[in-house]
Amino acid sequence: DAPETVTPTGIPTGAPKVSKSQQGEFLTTAQGARLRDTDHSLKAGPRGPVLLQDHHFREKMTHFDHERIPERVVHARGAGAHGTFTAYGSATEVTKAGFLAKGKETEVFVRFSTVLGSRGSADTVRDTRGFATKFYTDEGTFDLVGNNIPVFFIQDAIKFPDIIHAAKWHPDREIPQAQSAHDTFWDFVSLHTEAQHHTMWNMSDRGIPRSYRHMEGFGVHTFRLVNAAGETVLAKFHWKPKLGVHSLDWEEAQIAAGVDPDFHRRDLYDSIEAGAFPEWELGLQVFPDSEEETFAGIDLLDATKIVPEELAPVQPVGKLVLTGVPTNFHAEVEQVAFHLGHLPPGIDVTNDPLLQGRLFSYVDTQLTRLGGPNYSQIPINRPHAPVNDMLRDGFHQHAVHGGVAPYRPNSLDGGNPFTTDTGFLDLPVRVAESAKVRENPVSFDDHYSQVRQFWLSMSPVEKEHIVRAYTFELAKCYEQAIKERQVQCLANIDPVLCEQVATGLGLPVPEPTVPLQDLEPSPVLSQVGGEWPAD
Ligand code: HEM
Repeated sequence: DAPETVTPTGIPTGAPKVSKSQQGEFLTTAQGARLRDTDHSLKAGPRGPVLLQDHHFREKMTHFDHERIPERVVHARGAGAHGTFTAYGSATEVTKAGFLAKGKETEVFVRFSTVLGSRGSADTVRDTRGFATKFYTDEGTFDLVGNNIPVFFIQDAIKFPDIIHAAKWHPDREIPQAQSAHDTFWDFVSLHTEAQHHTMWNMSDRGIPRSYRHMEGFGVHTFRLVNAAGETVLAKFHWKPKLGVHSLDWEEAQIAAGVDPDFHRRDLYDSIEAGAFPEWELGLQVFPDSEEETFAGIDLLDATKIVPEELAPVQPVGKLVLTGVPTNFHAEVEQVAFHLGHLPPGIDVTNDPLLQGRLFSYVDTQLTRLGGPNYSQIPINRPHAPVNDMLRDGFHQHAVHGGVAPYRPNSLDGGNPFTTDTGFLDLPVRVAESAKVRENPVSFDDHYSQVRQFWLSMSPVEKEHIVRAYTFELAKCYEQAIKERQVQCLANIDPVLCEQVATGLGLPVPEPTVPLQDLEPSPVLSQVGGEWPAD
């Protein structure tokens, strides 16, 4: 075969090629020696014992013994697919990112996931879903690492280990439903009340999607975009599924989890193989870039807040179509490594303290999960843009770098010139003149009004599902004080919600401790929309 691309590192760029292993005329060892037998070990006579000198036996067994890599610390359970993103050209006013230029087609790999379960867990559990997209753009890889819920549990990344410790399996029995595992989750979200918004989305029908094809995706954080003239805006990314947003009923989800734990994975691959290619539209909510980084009074750096779409409509900028199932699940779905810092020119990060912490965490975990610093050479992670870096050596290095001067400037290897105008430019955003502090801005203090607005936006049947979910999940808590504290949070969201859940749990109905705001329902938050017809 001709090489896919000739690159300075000798590592091909572009899509991974299907390996030819096990398609030759003869089976061989890893060294290419032809095999006569792979079913019988070498023994001192037919009745043994087995001889240590049997290299084939040891090579086969040793490799098998090391087949597993660590599962992701979160989002371990997932499924991925290949596809194409085609830009409408509508975003060129606000970003110079080349993959958003009119008609531009870019190859993508998308990985969907649950957050909390292990690799072998069921698909249809109540959880947030990951929606991570790798765009192999001509200007370097862009990873949009989003979820199907537009807000997050916490405002500051430093709490991420804590919320995950509270929500994942229980440390003594390693089952999420173990005694007091519900206690730890509700303990956390009732003590860290910023988590109430995300929790309400989880308790709603959004927590049990019908399939990956029926999910929205959200970048969650606010990003900063820059156009060719150097002008900046703030923006949030949205994926809108062509099939609309649909969920499973709780009972359906329970049955599917038992009958077919691979329900979502199977749906994704079956639909692609049947030619019913899943589609999403990528859209942007765009806000003026201001020193306050707020819009309509909402702090754009607070990942527990949305900007309602009626205030800032989602403007479509391109279309994603998934057309290819993985050839090898391990090589593609398990080895893919996403990172928020993988940005093309035209898209930059903001100071959202959750986003900032994520910039550290993903590389750090991938160093362990993928065995060292060279995982960007793994086929699924290779950029499709040419690579010419000064990174050298390390575990699992596959490049044979020539030259003697991996530094710049140099006078020996051509000097390693920089690009003058096409590279990524860190935007010269002013950093506040402030003393070092650990406090949050005051604008992060409101933990209830958007949760209330979400609740008020639901149709009657969606409200009924939410009440049932809170009542069912809280009933599993052993600690009365935790149930009561969460019911107090519900009182701060809405008296009807609180009254119905408290009654279901046999608890008194508390008074709110914060003033309840008079809010308009948001028409786009309900999946049903409008009034549910009376029976
Ligand atoms: C996966 C950390 C918040 C979406 C992961 C992984 C880590 C992590 C360590 C495993 C990565 C790997 O093994 O390759 C964090 C931290 C967060 C945070 C520290 C907050 C401080 C979020 C948020 C979103 C998100 C807000 C959505 C907007 C995802 C997705 C994956 C993931 C989709 C799975 C990626 C894949 O499919 O490989 N996260 N995360 N995370 N995270 Fe986060």
